[in-house]
Amino acid sequence: MQKPRVFIARRLALDPRQVLGAGVEIDLHDSESALPRAELLRRAHESSGLVATLADKVDGELLDAAPRLRIVANHAVGYDNVDVPACTRRSVWVTNTPDVLTDATADLTWALILALARRLREGERLLRSGGFSGWAPTMLLGRELRGRTLGIFGYGRIGQAVARRAEGFGMRVLFNTRGGGVSFEELLEESDVLSIHVPLSTQTRHAFGPAELLRMKRGALLINTARGPIVDEAALVAALAARHLGGAGLDVFENEPAVHPGLAGRDDVVLLPHLGSATQEAREAMARIALSEVERVLRGERPLHAVNEVP
Ligand code: GLV
Repeated sequence: MQKPRVFIARRLALDPRQVLGAGVEIDLHDSESALPRAELLRRAHESSGLVATLADKVDGELLDAAPRLRIVANHAVGYDNVDVPACTRRSVWVTNTPDVLTDATADLTWALILALARRLREGERLLRSGGFSGWAPTMLLGRELRGRTLGIFGYGRIGQAVARRAEGFGMRVLFNTRGGGVSFEELLEESDVLSIHVPLSTQTRHAFGPAELLRMKRGALLINTARGPIVDEAALVAALAARHLGGAGLDVFENEPAVHPGLAGRDDVVLLPHLGSATQEAREAMARIALSEVERVLRGERPLHAVNEVP
């Protein structure tokens, strides 16, 4: 009997054989680069399980090309790259990797907040370019965080982990979430630092457009470690250029991996290449979860981190 094939669309932080037993055949795209779409469809064709990353669009077209597919294990906590209803209609499980990347992502959020508040980029560049000629009382003055207000948009696992860290910095925390907290308007108006922690959905796409950015406090910092399209990047560039916002810390981009040309040249932004969960520990755990979910479903069991319900 032919073994079920598991297609892993990207190199992982651990060897898949550490998790997948001899009962499955592995097709690993052992590279850091995304596969071209046609190749993704071709290799999905014979597969019973797919480990996808957030750059792999799993839609009706891919599902039609993969008639044997029983599970899409998304190697991410966010799963906006997956058409979940289309999977459910075809009885394909969809799973994600929650919890294990919460601390890594909250830490990176704080790295962005601190980098902006204390002008790390400018300081580092000055030093490396040979421009540091000695300490000066007025050089590269940043801002204190103590006593300022941190606004958290979306108060799930990661938003709460960011809030816990705020206590150590003496910040007041406000949050807005579907279930409570302050209104979105109050969050915009009150936050000195506003950090985004909602999933991308039709409701949250461009939640930060021209009007919302204008409603933010003058000089406020906007941090996004969630998904790029939640922020209207052109509107953000305009709000920064007008000096309405004091800075932006971005780990994700509207047209990732492309970055709006108006951002790259600015000193008041810190830009990272989607590193939120990029710790050895988190990435090994994410890989382990995704692969274990595939194993489970191919054994005929229910996955532990399903985001849909399959009859
Ligand atoms: C990364 O962005 C994730 O959703 O895990």
